[in-house]
Amino acid sequence: MRVRAITAAVLIAGLGAVGVAIAAEEGTHDARSALMKKVGGAAGAMTAIAKGEKPYDAEAVKVALTTISETAKVFPDQFKPGTETGDKAASPKIWEDHADFKARADKLSADAEKVLAQLPADAAGVGGALKTLGGNCGGCHEKYRIKTE
Ligand code: HEC
Repeated sequence: MRVRAITAAVLIAGLGAVGVAIAAEEGTHDARSALMKKVGGAAGAMTAIAKGEKPYDAEAVKVALTTISETAKVFPDQFKPGTETGDKAASPKIWEDHADFKARADKLSADAEKVLAQLPADAAGVGGALKTLGGNCGGCHEKYRIKTE
């Protein structure tokens, strides 16, 4: 039973990665950038609520957090060995210390899931959640993202 459940989980995870790869060829700057844009868009939607630019909407918060959690899970898979060529925004350090890079993505995903489990009930709560999540974004970008502009 247990083995079967694990096999199913691995299969589902694999299918998820295939779904993402359809948008842009896997392991390219475009694919990575598209995933991060999704994360950025989700964080942006939450920021608008936290700032009062948009009314609090539990469903929108849920969708944003789910997007962040799911995307962070597949993001490190886009940095396979040999795909570092021609990428201006991703630092070579990602391939040198992939375990740390993956751990940071996993932490973001886990934090998003934690917030999901105790969904913020108002704009102030969404602001607090962004602080929790935002540390992950900034920390990883500082170490692994090269500023292109
Ligand atoms: C595990 C490391 C990591 C974490 C965590 C992370 N990022 Fe990123 N982010 C990157 C890297 C690496 C790039 C550059 C990718 C590339 O262009 O190939 C990037 C690029 C981006 C971009 C630019 C995308 C583009 O090409 O226009 C945005 C926006 C972004 N991240 C938002 C976020 C937000 C918001 C969070 C937190 C909720 C976050 N990121 C968390 C590593 C991370």
